[in-house]
Amino acid sequence: MKPFELALSAAKEAGMILERFFRDGAEVRSKGISDLVTDADISAERQIAGMIRQVYPDHAILGEEENSGSIDAEHLWVVDPLDGTTNFAHQIPHFAVSIAYLYRGQAQAGVVWNPLRGDLYTARRGEGAWHNEKPIRVGSQTQMSEVLVGTGFYYDRGAMMEATLAAIGDCFRQNIHGIRRFGTASLDLAHVATGLYGAYFEYQLSPWDYAAGQLLVEEAGGKVTTCNGSSMPLQKTSILATNGPLHPQVLSIVERHLKSWQSAAPPAM
Ligand code: IPD
Ligand code: CA
Ligand code: CA
Repeated sequence: MKPFELALSAAKEAGMILERFFRDGAEVRSKGISDLVTDADISAERQIAGMIRQVYPDHAILGEEENSGSIDAEHLWVVDPLDGTTNFAHQIPHFAVSIAYLYRGQAQAGVVWNPLRGDLYTARRGEGAWHNEKPIRVGSQTQMSEVLVGTGFYYDRGAMMEATLAAIGDCFRQNIHGIRRFGTASLDLAHVATGLYGAYFEYQLSPWDYAAGQLLVEEAGGKVTTCNGSSMPLQKTSILATNGPLHPQVLSIVERHLKSWQSAAPPAM
């Protein structure tokens, strides 16, 4: 089975697990302040990792919960078994499975699957991106006053959160149609790829949050960089994804506030 087909069937299997836990209830625990994990996250990651190992026993797996494969591996799978755990734990029906396959550090295939809505977003390097098998393109707006902007807050309640709020304020001052914080980064990226958002930014994400979604945006014709405009490293990083024409305008806002939280003193312990 090719990596793309495997990613697809693993996402669907994991999605069934998530649906079952969502319906029947899952035990919720805290990994850190405001950072939750449930039995659903763990079971779904075990399912995905098991399926990958069966087909490609030599490939590395980097998953949010249990798998810590090296980012330097030649063949690497980057997996978020449940993106949107906070929504899930609060019974909000907006979450996804996100799986990317990378060869020598470059995403080749990406799948984001929202099981409750039956929304499937897929991308293959050099071939395009699809929503429920129909080709997708980013929006063509050139002004911030024509778009919605998505964001997220990671699990910080200090300077990073303040910087995000300040950047949101500056976006509003450019007369954007509105801000959305839906709580699932992979779907936020899918929203840029399908043109629902003109831009999405967040000051800290991990590879499993964005690996598949980044490929979606790029293959749909958009642009993805860090919030200081450099190319994305495969590690914890800030992210700005746009339709392309809006990149410089949104970058000038998010970069300014990124600098402000990076230079802020760490909170007193
Ligand atoms: C989180 C979600 C959320 C984003 C956070 C992520 P998780 O992932 O994608 O939208 O704002 O930064 O950590 O913890 O639900 O997998
Ligand atoms: Ca996530
Ligand atoms: Ca997760």
